[in-house]
Amino acid sequence: MKFFIDTANVEDIQKAYKMGVLSGVTTNPSLVAKEGVKFEDRIEEILKLVPEVESVSAEVTPNAVSAEEMIAEADELIKINGGDKNITIKLPMTLAGLEACRYLTKKGVKTNVTLIFTVNQALLAARAGATYVSPFLGRLDDISEDGVLLVAKIAELFKVHNMDAQIIAASVRHPDHVTRVALAGAHIATIPYSVIEQLSKHPLTDQGIEKFAADWAKTSL
Ligand code: E4P
Repeated sequence: MKFFIDTANVEDIQKAYKMGVLSGVTTNPSLVAKEGVKFEDRIEEILKLVPEVESVSAEVTPNAVSAEEMIAEADELIKINGGDKNITIKLPMTLAGLEACRYLTKKGVKTNVTLIFTVNQALLAARAGATYVSPFLGRLDDISEDGVLLVAKIAELFKVHNMDAQIIAASVRHPDHVTRVALAGAHIATIPYSVIEQLSKHPLTDQGIEKFAADWAKTSL
């Protein structure tokens, strides 16, 4: 399973990129709004910051409701940074989003269909040609449903039918989510920086480092 970072914050992206584990970035209108910056400028900044990743998702704005409106926004987004090959157009899981997905896929543009909460939605998005589908597990857990089970079912379905779309486990809240979606067959987990950092930690690792340092300080060598 690959790691994407789920943020529009450049410092967090830089820190995760330096760790050497990053394969992509996902943003959404809420994450961009939190940064208080111009959307297109921030996407360009991110694309320049992480040239070696496979994908940077930029979501069409909530103003784009029809397929035509989504395509018009996508047509502008794909020009950013000189037509960067990594740009991925994130589309909401609506009928218009599916229509836009099919159009952009035919044009050779990478797509990420977002706000997936059922297996059928994932199946539709994959059939519309989505490069990525994004089930939101944390938000399902929030309403007492099982987000990891949804990821597992989508993974099984894509395997049985030999479908190419990659599953991005999204709305990931803690390290246990990461382990469980990796085992469930997600191709990618998109994670906030705080959770990426948590993945690297264990109290026994810290204790071990302290003990080695203390023992080493006692030697005369
Ligand atoms: C995915 O691409 C979304 O940006 C994200 O994971 C949503 O997560 P949230 O439920 O924590 O807002």
